[in-house]
Amino acid sequence: MGWTDNLLTGIHEIDQQHQVLFDVVARLEQAVTSDDKWSAVHFALVELNSFVNVHFAVEEALMRLHGYPDLEAHIAAHRAFSVDLLEIKQRSIREDVSAGMTNMLKEWLVGHIGVVDKQYVPHLRTAPVATRF
Ligand SMILES: [Fe+2]
Ligand SMILES: [Fe+2]
Repeated sequence: MGWTDNLLTGIHEIDQQHQVLFDVVARLEQAVTSDDKWSAVHFALVELNSFVNVHFAVEEALMRLHGYPDLEAHIAAHRAFSVDLLEIKQRSIREDVSAGMTNMLKEWLVGHIGVVDKQYVPHLRTAPVATRF
């Protein structure tokens, strides 16, 4: 499980960001097996957390700009993942969070990008950009 071209949205900036997310998760997978596992895992989670927040903000701004009707549900899915990720990041300071973690993160990414993100693609292609919010 990981990045495949099936996950492409055709929106260049979004596709690049999605690939970066999988790159960061790959670093997290390496960190789990490294000698300095504790700090490597924690710092990879810090990196993932900050990039996820950047990506969500970009996606939400694009959807808002195009008046996407399912914006609120999409934001709720993002927030739920952010809460889980923040909790894992905080726990990683004091305990080993590696068991099953990277698979869980990849499963969420594949499911979210492949289903939920793909739903906004036709709308972003056809809806005019809103001039007021
Ligand atoms: Fe996304
Ligand atoms: Fe999303």
